[in-house]
Amino acid sequence: MRVCIGVGGGIAAYKSAELVRRLQDRGYEVQVVMTRAACQFITPLTMASLSGRKVITGLFNNGSDGPAGEANIDSAIEHIAVAQTIDLLLIAPATADLLAKMARGHADDFLTTLHLATQAPLVIAPAMNVNMWTHPATQENLAILKGRGARIVDPAEGYLACGMTGAGRLASTDAIVAAVVETLDAAALPKNLQGHTVLVTAGPTQEDVDPVRYITNRSSGRMGYAIASEARRRGAHVVLVSGPTALAAPDGVELVAVRSAEEMRDAVLSHLDRANIVVMAAAVADYRPARRAEQKIKKNAAPLTIELESTPDILREIAARRGERFVVGFAAETENLVANAKRKLEAKNLDMIVANDVSGTDTGFDSEFNAAVILSRDGEPVELRRMTKQEMAGRILDEAAARIRTPVPAR
Ligand code: CTP
Repeated sequence: MRVCIGVGGGIAAYKSAELVRRLQDRGYEVQVVMTRAACQFITPLTMASLSGRKVITGLFNNGSDGPAGEANIDSAIEHIAVAQTIDLLLIAPATADLLAKMARGHADDFLTTLHLATQAPLVIAPAMNVNMWTHPATQENLAILKGRGARIVDPAEGYLACGMTGAGRLASTDAIVAAVVETLDAAALPKNLQGHTVLVTAGPTQEDVDPVRYITNRSSGRMGYAIASEARRRGAHVVLVSGPTALAAPDGVELVAVRSAEEMRDAVLSHLDRANIVVMAAAVADYRPARRAEQKIKKNAAPLTIELESTPDILREIAARRGERFVVGFAAETENLVANAKRKLEAKNLDMIVANDVSGTDTGFDSEFNAAVILSRDGEPVELRRMTKQEMAGRILDEAAARIRTPVPAR
């Protein structure tokens, strides 16, 4: 794998030397490109010695892009060829100026030209003064780059070289290397959901008893969020309808935040037309208080009885009006896993059901891990032994992708 690291002109440029080493430790071949300003902070010689390769600093020769540079068309063509041979372009540190140039598509030096010429995935690690970072212009440029699929490794908070404190320090080397590895792994994945729109539900719902109390289910939302991010990694457009969780929405996923089962139902139905795959991973409360008290219920000596009524069964409703959609449900069971799940698969008219045993203590609720069995209308049950929820999400989606009947919808 060949990673190109584009170094911008900021104090943090010296940290890119460590990045080169760490990327090489991962077995990547590293090509360094430096802007003219970067050469003021760290010498190309340092970077050439570390990377063991010629460092590219200019478009027309191997010197700078400045007026003193001597035009050399051979090296220009040779350099542009870099665009076709790299597997990833990492910009670290990315200055506010570089972000602006990339967002607008400028190509007035080698790095910005390479950015336009390459189709490799882009990872950007910005570093700058806190006011420059929070400036609406910078944030708009970031949003543009994100919207095009760039992965942003957000700067950390702390003491900045300019003497101020706040967000703007280059993210840790560990975080940048992890983003590079994840992006390369994702690029290597089959894009078996490209062109599809996946609607995922996740997390618990909250059903109000009174203004301060509610009934809910034990659910961290991790399984649904993992499905959303894996679907995105496989090329799908993803709409994530989520009950309250402590998780951040995965990059590139459209988040619709809801609280109650009723709100979740409305959100799912309003986005259903766009989706051709539906994965219902939410732990929807089956019951809600029949009446929500307007005021906080006061305690007194008598026992309190709250009358509950059923919530809408969203999955059943979707399955009934599914058309050509591929519908996946989840079944959280504490006994007779396969038999109960099979009954739900048929009763709710699903294409696939993921049955997880929630009686264990080291998988399921609040855990990074899960164990499950996938049942589908055709074929044998697929047993997924204890694995991370992220891995499991990938397996579920690959099983679904292999069974989708409908062609990729026109968008
Ligand atoms: N589900 C739903 N709407 C509800 C309840 C559940 O859409 N009101 C969905 C869940 O997202 C999950 C599936 O139904 O995909 C199974 O949920 P589960 O609670 O295991 O099954 P139930 O059908 O509610 O049956 P039981 O509680 O008796 O096990």
